Amino acid sequence: MNIKEITRNIFYCGVNDRVTEKFENLWPLPYGVSYNSYVIVGSEKTVLVDTVRVDEVREFIENLRLTVGDRKIDYLLVNHMEPDHTGSVPLILKEYPDLKIIGNAQTIGMLKGFYHIDDDSCYHEVKDGDSLDLGDRVITFHLTPMIHWPETMMCYVPDVKVLFSGDAFGTFGALNGGVVDSEMETDFYFPEMYRYYTNIVGKYGKFVQRALQKLKTFELEYICSTHGPVWHDRISEVVDLVDRLSAYRSEPGVTIIYGSMYGNTAEVAEVVARRLAEKGIKNIKVHNAAHSEMSDMISDAFRYEGLVVGSATYSMRLFPPVETFMNAMETREIKGKVFATFGGYTWAKGAVVAKLQEYADRMKMPVVASMMLKQTLDNASRMEANQLADAVADALTLN
Ligand code: FEO
Repeated sequence: MNIKEITRNIFYCGVNDRVTEKFENLWPLPYGVSYNSYVIVGSEKTVLVDTVRVDEVREFIENLRLTVGDRKIDYLLVNHMEPDHTGSVPLILKEYPDLKIIGNAQTIGMLKGFYHIDDDSCYHEVKDGDSLDLGDRVITFHLTPMIHWPETMMCYVPDVKVLFSGDAFGTFGALNGGVVDSEMETDFYFPEMYRYYTNIVGKYGKFVQRALQKLKTFELEYICSTHGPVWHDRISEVVDLVDRLSAYRSEPGVTIIYGSMYGNTAEVAEVVARRLAEKGIKNIKVHNAAHSEMSDMISDAFRYEGLVVGSATYSMRLFPPVETFMNAMETREIKGKVFATFGGYTWAKGAVVAKLQEYADRMKMPVVASMMLKQTLDNASRMEANQLADAVADALTLN
């Protein structure tokens, strides 16, 4: 049970999921995840904001009953259609058959498609900038497409300066008793926020930037996201973090990603890492792509200014986990990195650095240095690896 009055007549009634192993069936959840839902109570109308994944519906309905008691729920506001927030909608409609669903035109179309709620009289359609009178307070609606689906919107309650932000400012990590950041230690959630943003929303940086511009006009006391803590004390930090990531602004440091079958390409990665450390770079993250989680590699690649990628040659292609990583980079339109490449080969000289160069060309990310290792490291190739590291270190602007 996780119920809390966040501020005057605004309640948290979400649930934790400590069972699902991978979010979107892709991204690990070592600390679980919360699906956040809220109730806004006005003197005349009551609004439920978002629901939860269907697996958690039993606890959710119990939370909701404890929150609203005998009060009628007039509206269910759907800020974001993804099933982790709408999976319970059909069951909530059974419990509260008179409520109307608030959504924009795209939301309503998707609700019909996903859940076959086809009767138009079930819906109250809103447009960007609309408001809804709840008696002693209003809610305003603001379309923020592609954070992280095209229908996404946020809503704002001006009298208490509360923003319901959908996926924006969300994190992985279940809520461990506390709901609002001021009642818990939240440092733990920040690495999870990097992972959440870069894994889930990462492709849509320019849309996030547009939304952040829109939000500049709001005074914010509380940000109520769909996942993770309600932000109050640390609003400026989380807004800054999302601003930085969505603008592809890096932090000092270098991420090294490599794929190696017999350890030779791996040795180049170790030489490069050591040389970068000798050059005074303190944040160096080395990932064996066949061993590390893709989720962590994407997060570090977004975060740090340098990106060095190396691959063994595998049937004339990139080693498969490295190819998957580079696809993730291209999908997320990653940019502005100091990018260097290396490849290991036995007989197919140049195949993998050429493949990495193709990614660099498509992503418009110049390669500052590149090297090829034939079979095993020797003095000459060790020197080349050091030179590659020197070129990366010289090109970094943030160290
Ligand atoms: Fe938590 Fe995009 O859904």
